[in-house]
Amino acid sequence: MSLFKVAGLVKRFGALLATDHVDLEVQAGEIHALIGPNGAGKSTLVNLISGLHAPDAGSIVLDGVALAGLPMHKRVEAGLSRCFQITSIFRDATVRDNLLLAAQAHAGSSLRFLRPRDAEPALFEVARALAERVGLAGQLERIAGALPHGAQRKLDVALALAARPKLLLLDEPMAGMGPEDSERMTELIHSLRGDMAILLIEHDMKAVFALADRISVLVYGRVLVAGDAATIKGHPQVQAVYLGTEDEAVEATA
Ligand SMILES: Nc1ncnc2c1ncn2[C@@H]1O[C@H](COP(=O)(O)OP(=O)(O)OP(=O)(O)O)[C@@H](O)[C@H]1O
Ligand SMILES: [Mg+2]
Repeated sequence: MSLFKVAGLVKRFGALLATDHVDLEVQAGEIHALIGPNGAGKSTLVNLISGLHAPDAGSIVLDGVALAGLPMHKRVEAGLSRCFQITSIFRDATVRDNLLLAAQAHAGSSLRFLRPRDAEPALFEVARALAERVGLAGQLERIAGALPHGAQRKLDVALALAARPKLLLLDEPMAGMGPEDSERMTELIHSLRGDMAILLIEHDMKAVFALADRISVLVYGRVLVAGDAATIKGHPQVQAVYLGTEDEAVEATA
């Protein structure tokens, strides 16, 4: 049985069918990429999963829990975490304080039984471990807003990891990055493989083909095809409607 399953999902914006009966399955520990041209409905699907939008029909199930209709914090409790593209970072606070806040928010039962003076070192240790996990261990005292773009994206991933998700949603983690930062973010996502399932929305096809176990191609709100990298690269319609429109994609498929 798959860890995460979307079935018959529908979202309309007026006359526009932004999500057109989408089916999607992600297995435990799998990196599943969602690709498709601009306006295909990728972000809408992420917003439906995270609870920003309510679907008109269909189901979203994570590890046996039906998410549709649940408020966002209940979805997080069920094991969902999402990167919010830097907006979740407190820019004037240090990296450490950002991580401490996130760690505290998700500490739950693990710290509930500790006395406050014992809980504090435990939280500091969680914050340090999160920083280390994303390669920011040396930056704990820096003001988050003063970090370079690539490091801020890493911090955003660390904040999402604080929830200890079963499924991590990454909406364009490489957006606005140069090749070097993209490479590092690819390595970071790769290092998370196996610890959680990841739904990755990304235009950087080099990263998608390097990381994804399976890929779903969304076109006009519909899943055109789902399969492994070889299936996607070899699919004539995918090449016509999507891959052919991006030079780097053509390069990646060569
Ligand atoms: N809140 C909204 N109200 C009305 N229409 C919307 C809304 N959000 C998205 N849309 C429309 O739904 C369609 C899908 O948009 P969406 O942002 O999901 O695409 P996308 O695949 O994420 O695109 P991109 O690659 O540019 O990020 C588009 O036609 C968009 O204009
Ligand atoms: Mg989008």
